[in-house]
Amino acid sequence: PLPEPFTRPLPLPRVLEPVRSESGTDYYEITQKAGKASILDGLDTEVWGYDGTFPGPTIVSRRGRRTVVRHTNELPVPVVVHLHGGRIAADQDGYPTDLVNPAQGTATTHTGTAGMEGMEMSGETGSRDYVYDLDQPAATLWYHDHRMDFTGPQVYRGLAGFHLIEDDEEAALGLPSGERDVPLMIVDRSFAADGSFRYPSTDPTLTGTPGVTADYMSGVLGDCVLVNGAAWPVMEVEAVRYRFRILNAANARRFRLRLDGGPSFVQIGSDQGLLAAPVELVRIDVAQGERFDVVVDFSGQAAGDEITMVNDRGEGGTAQVMRFRVTGTATDDSRVPERLADLEQLSEADAVASRTFTFRRGGAEAHGMTLWTVNGEAFDPDTVIASPKLGTVERWTIVAQNNEHPFHVHLGAFQVLASSTAGRNDEGWKDTVNLDNGGRAEILVRFDGHRGKYVLHCHNLEHEDMMMMANFEVV
Ligand code: C2O
Ligand code: CU
Repeated sequence: PLPEPFTRPLPLPRVLEPVRSESGTDYYEITQKAGKASILDGLDTEVWGYDGTFPGPTIVSRRGRRTVVRHTNELPVPVVVHLHGGRIAADQDGYPTDLVNPAQGTATTHTGTAGMEGMEMSGETGSRDYVYDLDQPAATLWYHDHRMDFTGPQVYRGLAGFHLIEDDEEAALGLPSGERDVPLMIVDRSFAADGSFRYPSTDPTLTGTPGVTADYMSGVLGDCVLVNGAAWPVMEVEAVRYRFRILNAANARRFRLRLDGGPSFVQIGSDQGLLAAPVELVRIDVAQGERFDVVVDFSGQAAGDEITMVNDRGEGGTAQVMRFRVTGTATDDSRVPERLADLEQLSEADAVASRTFTFRRGGAEAHGMTLWTVNGEAFDPDTVIASPKLGTVERWTIVAQNNEHPFHVHLGAFQVLASSTAGRNDEGWKDTVNLDNGGRAEILVRFDGHRGKYVLHCHNLEHEDMMMMANFEVV
């Protein structure tokens, strides 16, 4: 049974300490394994988590220092780790077929066990190091599983965590910090009678045929909301400013968040870091994979006030998200300056090439399913559909049909030039943008830092697993 809403305290993911640090590099270790979470009343939920927890531990990197994370796989299936939003080398990016196979159990480096069409898999066995240079501004990134064909079920079981980047420019602003800088990982989930997360896999062992049962082809939606792994939690706050790093880590649900009975959100950052200036928003639409860095000022509230974060796109158990309970006054020397960062504003004239990508259903089939495709093609590791030049900006038009599609590009950071999506809130540098069914977006994407082959894809994880993904290669 689910707990009463707003009775469980908001959990905070543990911040991971480096196992060692030396000249310019911090080393971390994470073991991917099964664990038990106490989400329901009187019944444990098995999760697959980083260090066995959901969310996984938070990594905090300093810009200019290198971060090395050793991932050990004690799960019964292959895994892939992708740092979403990281500008990192192609061979460290968590390419979907670049597996970390379990030390024990079925290795699937060979063709055929996984892979919609019997793709070639590569990778390591037992563990591997991911090396991140992260020469990029302060931002809220996250890491999650990216295994070919099985990203949806593996993230749903719990393989997701925060990875923050800090820098001196951000630290100098005086934004709320310490206990008043709070990551919020928002997901929806459903539960089976035995307490486990209910995910409609064709093959629940996740070692054979990929995919979900026919009813879930558009995406797997849950019936309750978890924040940092707790169902509809409550957080006690003082009547001061807080910074919340909001991440939608759900597989297929977009949230439209609002603070019922409270102040508005002041957005200070987007996917890739700080905005030029703060933007006040009564509601924010957060698609899967997107981050909204916001400040909420509770100083107008009195002790005992309760403010509920609601989801205006949900119903029943998904219409409410969490609650804030104001305990009393406190001193606050934080600020939200009028200027946050010097952002270069791209213009159409900066683009050296234009391309269009259409996200729709159809054009390819596998295992009896009509697949989700990019420009009518299913994902193929050997096909590259765009070859942007290193250091250039391109203008991309993204067209969405047959469903909503959150578009995500690895490596590249973009600015949204125009978007047909209602309730648009796409300021700043982004790596993910939402598209309504029938919508389109014009974006200016910059390719910096690394050459090599990367993926772009839909961040509805069921669409992604059903092949809505394509390669581009920075040359
Ligand atoms: Cu958040 Cu390619 O993923
Ligand atoms: Cu999609």
